[in-house]
Amino acid sequence: MQNIVEFSEGLVVQTALINGYSESDWGVLCDVQSITMSWSKEFSKMFTEALYADPNTSKILAKVNSTDHQQSFAVWYETLASGKPGATFWPETCLVGLFHAAAGVDNRHVIGLFSKLEVSFHRKCLESFELDKANEVFWAFKRIMDIALAIMVDSYHFANIVGMKDVGVNEALFARIRGLSIRKMIDEARSVLPLIEWNDSLSVGLDSIDEQHKKLVDILNSLHGSSASAKDPEAVKKILNDLVEYTVYHFNYEEGLMKEHQYPDLENHLVAHKALVEQVGKFNEDFQAGRAKLSSELFKFLRSWLNGHIRGTDKRYSAHMKACGVN
Ligand SMILES: [Fe+2]
Ligand SMILES: [Fe+2]
Repeated sequence: MQNIVEFSEGLVVQTALINGYSESDWGVLCDVQSITMSWSKEFSKMFTEALYADPNTSKILAKVNSTDHQQSFAVWYETLASGKPGATFWPETCLVGLFHAAAGVDNRHVIGLFSKLEVSFHRKCLESFELDKANEVFWAFKRIMDIALAIMVDSYHFANIVGMKDVGVNEALFARIRGLSIRKMIDEARSVLPLIEWNDSLSVGLDSIDEQHKKLVDILNSLHGSSASAKDPEAVKKILNDLVEYTVYHFNYEEGLMKEHQYPDLENHLVAHKALVEQVGKFNEDFQAGRAKLSSELFKFLRSWLNGHIRGTDKRYSAHMKACGVN
């Protein structure tokens, strides 16, 4: 089991691998500390006011003296802005996260406050330094803030692990329980959310085709909905038949248009249609005969089938058709 020092240092290493943080970021801040440390009062006032202005956190924090809060934030900010954090900065940051957890301050407030602080820091950098220097200082600050944020937010997870261990659940079992509940939540979310949501990024710019694509999206969503709720095989069989029939109808319509307007890439498009009809037709046959079941793999395939064909193959004919006066 890790202690708070190992936990926070491990997180620094992992986050740094992604956001590019290195010790040299502290050097950048150290060079300008005479300016940035003087912003401490303004920032701590802003930070505390924002925290207490929120109706959720203000209730929780009513017991804490706001001056104390302001002061502890000022100490943390000044340590950061000095560019000389010392050995305990990251574990102390983890402690701040644990204090938040103890007070019930939600992570979304912490994220909102960090974002607000970064915007103000950026504005002040632009007022105080030449553009290049302002960017250099801001990005060093931002990388450090992101690591601090990762530590604060993840300290909730750290507390969970410690708590579980105290009641006799080891880390591996905890990870397994967590994995199972995440899986369950994903399945539940999938069952209530539509498989595909129509938006303008799916439009090929031709009204008649867009209407047909929307209908295909609707059929796929009702197939997806039927698999999650009723488990009525007859209803599923009917929707699957609708899907196959409408796919054939729509492909014929598109192919007619492409032939009529001598679309140059017709052959490749026909090959793509043929393969898709065969794949969906085969699945339909297997399902009607009781050899196949609706599964998350099938829906993954159908979603990428429709998304991929519309966004890739179909969109390619758009300019040609428009030039031929189709709409
Ligand atoms: Fe299409
Ligand atoms: Fe097509």
